[in-house]
Amino acid sequence: MADLDYDVIICGSGLAGLRAAIEAAETSNSLRIGVISKLQVMRSHSVSAEGGTAAVIFPDEGDTIESHIYDTVKGSDFLADQDVAERLCNEMPAEIYRLDHWGMPWSRREDGRIDQRAFGGYSHPRATYASDKVGFFEMQTLYDTCQKYDNIEYLNEWFATSILHDGHRFRGITAIELSSGGFNTIRAKSLILATGGAGRLYSFSTYALSSTPDGLDMAYRAGLALKDMEFVQFHPTGIMPSGILITEGARGEGGYLLNSEGERFMKKYAPGKMELAPRDIVSRSMMTEINEGRGFINETGASCVKLDLRHIGDERIKEKLGGIREISIKFSGVDPATDLLDVRPVCHYMMGGIHADIDGATELAGVWTAGEAACNSTHGSNRLGANSTSECIVWGRITGRLAAEYALRSIPSEPFPSNLVALEEKRIYDGIFRGRGDVNPYEVRQELSDTMNEKAYVYRNGRDLADGLRRIRELRDSAWKHVDDSAREYNTNFTNVMELDSMFRAAEAILVGAINRQESRGAHARTDYPQRDDENFLHHTLAYWGPGEPIMKSHPVTITRYTPVERKY
Ligand code: FUM
Repeated sequence: MADLDYDVIICGSGLAGLRAAIEAAETSNSLRIGVISKLQVMRSHSVSAEGGTAAVIFPDEGDTIESHIYDTVKGSDFLADQDVAERLCNEMPAEIYRLDHWGMPWSRREDGRIDQRAFGGYSHPRATYASDKVGFFEMQTLYDTCQKYDNIEYLNEWFATSILHDGHRFRGITAIELSSGGFNTIRAKSLILATGGAGRLYSFSTYALSSTPDGLDMAYRAGLALKDMEFVQFHPTGIMPSGILITEGARGEGGYLLNSEGERFMKKYAPGKMELAPRDIVSRSMMTEINEGRGFINETGASCVKLDLRHIGDERIKEKLGGIREISIKFSGVDPATDLLDVRPVCHYMMGGIHADIDGATELAGVWTAGEAACNSTHGSNRLGANSTSECIVWGRITGRLAAEYALRSIPSEPFPSNLVALEEKRIYDGIFRGRGDVNPYEVRQELSDTMNEKAYVYRNGRDLADGLRRIRELRDSAWKHVDDSAREYNTNFTNVMELDSMFRAAEAILVGAINRQESRGAHARTDYPQRDDENFLHHTLAYWGPGEPIMKSHPVTITRYTPVERKY
């Protein structure tokens, strides 16, 4: 067993993780910064962000920070912490220009200024874009910038498994080096959890296959709360049959949604915004059309509506939407310049995550969290498109600075509580690696994600959610701990089963949160409780891991300037 030593360790090498690494390195060149990821850096799911990064950069054309804050809070169905939304919107414009100076190839207007496109729920075009490959170019820009610093080191293809602490303070983590299979301890003074979202809990998903809740679960098992897990975002336009994202930018560029009567049905649900209403509203409208018999049946047998981009024209599609054109042709055999796309709401983002305050600080001294893994309550119950890459960049910077300053103030790292390391090694190797249960874990993983899709999708009800929870618990209690491959090196069979282990706990937190929240708010739409209920539910949900079932608590929402009102678009 190796014992490595860093000052700041960052789990996750997506946008939030890399932005944090740069900021920590900027804070002091005396710090040793480790970025650990189960993937290679440029394989992080952030590379697949498509349509935009939200910021106000055209005050001279009437856009205002105030309006960005209000749009975010209204979009969140008033569950966002308003001071946090304010911080996001205030800090973003500088980050757009900082990225520009670091080499980000933003799409530009004729006059050379950075361009922005319309996105859902905003009162001004505010999505800063680079064709439809925003995440890829942002990642490239940040990774390239990271290369300037000698004090950032990468532990690529290392699977972090647990957080070590003494009950008060962070001490380090345990991790498996996937290339050798070796189990290691990594001592550090501070930690940033930036492990992204967990959308592979759903089988119809825009996420990379690697987007499982192992990072969330490390925090959960260490005693930290998961917050607002019931709020899962379904993006309206997952292309059939794969679920790959067709960016909201396609509607921002003028695309329509059509039902089987050829009608632009959004006029009934959000006449002021049409297809550019917030995602929760568009996804519900699509499902209402489908449920009332005005959908289409895709050749796979699943129902869908159509996305029409033909009027945008071949040339503009190639220039502004080249990525989704290629995806449509390659994965669905449809050219959007000539044909309609079959689309259906798809799991795309988790508003919930590791409970954090406005600085990204968790309840454990020395641990911060940023990006989609975090829930600092920027997005409340429904995130607006393009506010996610923004969140990664803003809280990557904030947590990078704070974790670095904390490390500079800290005394040299002390030995680990050795019983914790031994317990973790036993959990991983005796509990999982040497597991020989008689149930196929791949089938269990498929069934788990199908259950989430079926029972906790766009529209939910108490009976389905309870059925879903029962099924997830039956699966959890079955003999799924089965690893056939006994090799140590690059044992993907083993990593799949470790990922599955974390999926049970995260799925349970989503379902219990959704059962308890007997109202409809943002992305959580209960047909048995169709109204928002501010009197009883204007609060965040906290789930703490407990033996048997999660321990649920509530946490107040910070309301600074906007009194909740009914959302109309
Ligand atoms: O539709 C999109 O391009 C997604 C953007 C986002 O989730 O922020």
